[in-house]
Amino acid sequence: MKLNLEVHELFPTPLWALDVPPPDAARLNAVLMGEIDKIIEPRPKVSGGSNWQTPQDLHKRPAFAEFAKLVEIAAGSVAQSLQVEQYPMMITGCWANINPTGSYHPTHNHPNNYLSGVYYVAVPNVGSHLVLQDPRPGIMMPGTKLGRLTANVAVVEVRAGRMVFFPSWLRHSVPANEGASDRISIAFNLMFTNFAETIAAPTWKASAGVSEDL
Ligand SMILES: [Fe+2]
Repeated sequence: MKLNLEVHELFPTPLWALDVPPPDAARLNAVLMGEIDKIIEPRPKVSGGSNWQTPQDLHKRPAFAEFAKLVEIAAGSVAQSLQVEQYPMMITGCWANINPTGSYHPTHNHPNNYLSGVYYVAVPNVGSHLVLQDPRPGIMMPGTKLGRLTANVAVVEVRAGRMVFFPSWLRHSVPANEGASDRISIAFNLMFTNFAETIAAPTWKASAGVSEDL
């Protein structure tokens, strides 16, 4: 008897990648690099493996208005794919990272937000990646070969002009920059503007009456 095997892939985790067309990205990135340099020059000394970061209010600065608008438009598409586009979202923080050779970001997530993301302004020509950790506690399944259904991390290749979004709870890290030039990115977080007023209410209704199962 031949048995038919079906594989049901349960609980997928979304990640969204949006690419700005190369000519537009080249113009935008030149402008962004100039503005980031203005904020961070003269660059303070950092220890090996560390990076330079700007303050987290770039989205409020006129020089980054075009970029903030781009993030909002992209976030609108992401919200649509999650069917939450009817609830306004706002950028809660936006900052630039300059990662020199050898610099990395250890694993972390972005609490108190719904969506997080990063846009790449400049990426060295040796591979640059964003590493996402599998959030499921049972992922430590024994196996002999890592594959799509057994790996406990996912790696996304990044390039200048690419914007990546992911759920803010998803833990991620950035491996050391092995290139000879700086890796420059702008990270951001978004949250629902009126979370408690619009979508925090229970999605279920309790039945009326006295319950003894407290
Ligand atoms: Fe992050």
